[in-house]
Amino acid sequence: MSANDRKTIFITGAASGIGLATAKRFAREGWFTGLADVDGPGLKRAAAEIGATSCSQHVLDVRDREAWKREIAAFASLSGGRLDALVNNAGVAHYGFFEDQSDEEIDRQFDINLKGVANGARAGLDLLKATRGSTLVNVASCAGFVGAPKMAAYCATKFAVKGLSEALEAEFSRHGIAVRCIMPWFVDTPILQAGSLGSNEKMADRLRAGGAQVYTVEEAADVIWKAIHGKDLNWIVGKAGRQLAFAARFMPGSVRKRAREGLGGPAS
Ligand code: NAI
Repeated sequence: MSANDRKTIFITGAASGIGLATAKRFAREGWFTGLADVDGPGLKRAAAEIGATSCSQHVLDVRDREAWKREIAAFASLSGGRLDALVNNAGVAHYGFFEDQSDEEIDRQFDINLKGVANGARAGLDLLKATRGSTLVNVASCAGFVGAPKMAAYCATKFAVKGLSEALEAEFSRHGIAVRCIMPWFVDTPILQAGSLGSNEKMADRLRAGGAQVYTVEEAADVIWKAIHGKDLNWIVGKAGRQLAFAARFMPGSVRKRAREGLGGPAS
């Protein structure tokens, strides 16, 4: 199915969670959506929900640069060379102490969450340059401005995505491409079931114990919609995330103390 002059968006991690909700939102608004994910059966289910006339499917591992070239070219042939927005959303998490995570778990987070985003920015650049008023959207996290225990490698990738986005906003302005960084607080998706080989504890268990606020995928998709139509670089999903950003800026010591206390260790 071709885009037929509609606005177009290419979304990684589109088979689940925030990526799927974003694809549904933009399709509802009349955009043609390129759904990319490493999960082929999940992509098929997503495409069935969105409808064949509103989307294309791209089996893509964001770590694979050749696959990026192939799938962006396939998308361009359907969109007439147009790419209004590229959303680097695919991401994974492993939850547990740094020393309990395997080397593979650490590498997997770095490779998908950070290198995958860089790969996407580079693979999509020519099409974004060719499309007037285009936007690159990178999904980071509130774990991209506060270091959360048991999420050290994950936090490192999200801090990096925030920095990459800020630098690219300046660089890509000379191509007429806007850059947006999305920082969700916890959102109700399968990623919250993340654990690690070294522990039985899941991120969701800790959230439940701490009574933390969890937002919906529709709220996250709405922020991505607003970010693409707005002017700011950084966008936080959820009031709890905005409160944390305020505390991290003006009371960084107490935010770090709370993180230590949350582990039951010495607070200072
Ligand atoms: P999810 O687990 O529902 O969706 C992630 C999707 O990425 C899945 O469809 C998965 O198959 C895909 N994926 C994983 N590895 C891939 C790879 N190598 N190549 C291509 N696709 C791959 O998770 P969710 O929550 O929707 O996550 C989306 C983004 O939001 C991630 O970057 C995550 O770090 C970020 N985020 C999520 C939060 C949450 O609480 N759910 C909070 C903050 C950020």
